Order: sequence, then structure tokens, then C-alpha cells
Amino acid sequence: MKVLVVGNGARENAIVEAFSRSKHNLEIVVFADKVNPGIKKFASAYEVASSLLDFEKLREFAAKEKPEFAVVGPEAPIVAGAADELEKLGIPCVAPKKLGGQLEGSKAFTRKLMQKYEIVGNPAFAVFKKWSGDISEADVMEAMRKFVEALNGEFVVKADGLQGGKGVKVVGDHLAGIADGLHYAKRCIEEDGYVVIEEKLIGEEFSLMYLTDGETLAAMPAVQDHKRAYEDDKGPNTGGMGTYSDSNHSLPFLTAEDLVQAREITQAMLEAVNEETGEKFRGVMYGGFMATKAGVRLIEYNARFGDPEAENVFPIMESDFVDVCRAVISGNLKNTPLEFAKKATVCKYVVPNGYPDAPIKGEEIKVFGLPENCKAYYASVDLDSEGRLRLGGSRAIALVGIADSLSKAERIAEEGVKSIEGPVFHRRDIGTEALINRRVIHMQNIRKQ
Ligand code: AMP
Ligand code: GLY
Repeated sequence: MKVLVVGNGARENAIVEAFSRSKHNLEIVVFADKVNPGIKKFASAYEVASSLLDFEKLREFAAKEKPEFAVVGPEAPIVAGAADELEKLGIPCVAPKKLGGQLEGSKAFTRKLMQKYEIVGNPAFAVFKKWSGDISEADVMEAMRKFVEALNGEFVVKADGLQGGKGVKVVGDHLAGIADGLHYAKRCIEEDGYVVIEEKLIGEEFSLMYLTDGETLAAMPAVQDHKRAYEDDKGPNTGGMGTYSDSNHSLPFLTAEDLVQAREITQAMLEAVNEETGEKFRGVMYGGFMATKAGVRLIEYNARFGDPEAENVFPIMESDFVDVCRAVISGNLKNTPLEFAKKATVCKYVVPNGYPDAPIKGEEIKVFGLPENCKAYYASVDLDSEGRLRLGGSRAIALVGIADSLSKAERIAEEGVKSIEGPVFHRRDIGTEALINRRVIHMQNIRKQ
């Protein structure tokens, strides 16, 4: 049998590796916009298009290869309707169609859906539209001012659509205060026609990914990501510098009740999306949540596996991923276990010097022997004509340590980083006891208030 994987990052490297462990006699074919050396070695066919959105090429490749099903990794092709295209060819996807993809593609869609179906976990929010007709620019600015004043100036401004995490600005972090926030909100309106403003949530963030066949949710271990580029959560936002997950599949600052609430919100959202779109949402629902004093709140949903969250969970997946995908597609997830080893994982991305604002590119990066229980998943690295690895300018290689405890997994990931040589840096603090204790104490203080 044959499966198609769309995408060529470290996340897809982890997915392809999980497929390679399948007991089925499997051929893996890949549709990518670059050659990923970590993926290519598993692929029986590897098609490189100029873009993952080149659906004509995707259709051609899929029609030639005739895979049983496809897994679409990144958000851009999902939101643009890759699953619609493939399903027209009779190839089912572990990814929602374009309508369901709005869950990730539009922050306004998700917030309004939660409101309409009265799902708990929504922060206070409002969508402001561009001035027109009787409503002047001054009216819209005044309405926004009133709204943020009612939030005591504690708010977040979100440009709609896919922005790679860079369209969100938070008061206190990226925005100095009300004037600054309103200025940014106005710019968003001018660009997109509208903007979402919402209450700033205070707490600890966590990622929970569920596979779903449209009815049943199968949870993956909870993961915490680190968006800031530098240690101690300083510096610009990135796609994610690293992640950790504990051996009990939770996180040290979460309660069992937090996990129950996240599942309840996601189950209610799944039903709401199905109802709203008139079709079953199939694939991944990945909630970015905030544990707060008042309970779990939703930051956003993604319609795909997280990167680097996928790198934590796939190497410890004990179930056969082919069986799980088949169950997602046939609607039989209820009877198909999704199991993970009781292991802690710590993932650290090595990134080019200067990342994310002015990353160097094209320099050589070398990978030496990895320590035991350490995985290296390739992201933005290219193989040159002489077989040397070169930095591509974005997150380069994800090193994942796997062990019985977080502290051991962290040390293995650090050892793994030492086997990489080149002009790169990484966050040493991710997964360390010091950082995790700070998260735990932060959350204890919040819950006490
Ligand atoms: P998003 O693209 O919606 O995931 O937002 C990017 C980041 O902005 C999140 O990971 C949070 O750190 C932060 N963020 C988004 N919404 C909120 C909120 N309502 N309150 C506090 N922080 C937020
Ligand atoms: N790790 C963040 C994301 O995948 O969106």
C-alpha cells in the first residue's frame, strides 16, 4: 500500500518516520517544495513543486501515484483546500477540507463559532469592520477604544488569516498600551477589512492535539511550546523554538481537570464545526490553550499537527499510524486505540544565527553521530550538489531527547545539539528543571489569587 505525505518540514519528517515503523508493507510518496534529506530517505517517490499550493502538480502526482490516503502537514495547503483537490481524485485525507480549514484559517470564524454555539473557553472578544457608509473611521476607532477600555487596557490584537503567528500583538509584550494597540488595529483593518480584539489571558499555555474522524477525539500527549527566540522567553516570536511533554502525557503545571476542560471544549467545537460546515471535520484539531485562574481558555485552533509538537509525540507513538489514519478516514476511531509510550520528550530546534529577523543562509551545517534515544528531524536544511548540508534560513534541525523523565530527556536533547556543528543557536533553557519550576510556580500563584 501507498501513502502520500504533503510537506517537507521537521514535522513531516517525524510523520514519515512514524509511517516507516508501520507493520504494513508501505510505500511513502512525498509532495514537497524542497528536498528534505531527512524525509527523502524514506520516500519511494519525491515530487518537488515550486510551491505546496501548486495544486495542479499535486493532482498530477497523486493521480500517478494513486495513494490509499494522504496526510497534509502544513496549514497553507490545508486552508487552501488540498483535501478538496485530493478527495476529488478519490484520495481521502487526514486533513479537513477547505470549509473545516477555516478553523485555523480565520480567527474570526473560530471566535464567532464558539460564541454562536455557546462554548465555554472563549475570552471576551469583538470583531471590528472597516468603516463604510454611515459608519466613519472615527466611529470605528471610538468603538474599539471603548471595548479595550472595558478590558482595562489588557487586550490582544489579531490580524485575521494565516500570519505564521506574527499577526498577533499582545499589550505588555508587543504593544505598549491602548494608543499603540489601536494604531495596530487600524492598520489591520486597512489591510484585511477587519480585525479581532480580545481579552488578554493570563496563565500558562499548552498545546493539545487530537486526531478526529469527525466524531471521536483521540488525544495526543499535552505539549508546551516556546515561541520566543531567546532564553527566558525574550526576543521576537518564532514558529516555536522547542517543546516538552511529560511521561504521564500531561504537563507539570496542569491539573487533570484542565485536560478534561480542553477535551470538552474541543468536543463541542468539533460538533459546532460539523454543524456549521455541513460536513465532518476529519484530521487534526490542535488547540492552543491557556490554563487560567478561571479555567481553560482557547487561544486558537489549528487544523494540523504542531511544529515542533509533532516531533514530541510521533517518536513515542506505539499505535501503527497507518491503522490510526485508516480509522480517521473510515470513521472508526472509536474502536482504534491511539497509544503512546510513557516517556518524557524534550525537543530543541537549532536555528541559524540571526533567526528569526536576519537569519544567515547557505552556510554549512554538519550532523555527527547522535546520542542514544535522540532523534534529529530535518527542517530548513538543503543538500548541496556535493552532499553537504546547508542552512536554508529558517528553523534547521529539531533534536528530540526521549527518556523516563523530563530532566533526562532534556540532557539527551542537549547532547544531541552538541552533535550539530555550524553557525546556529538554540534555547538551552527549554525542558530544564529551572524553567519548568518557574512555570509550575507561576501557575500555582495564578490559581491561588
Ligand atoms: P495565535 O496566533 O492566536 O496562537 O497567537 C500567538 C500567541 O499570542 C499565542 O501563542 C499567545 O502567546 C499569544 N496570545 C494570543 N491570544 C492571546 C490572548 N487572548 N491572551 C494572551 N495571549 C494571547
Ligand atoms: N508550534 C506552534 C505551531 O505549530 O503553530
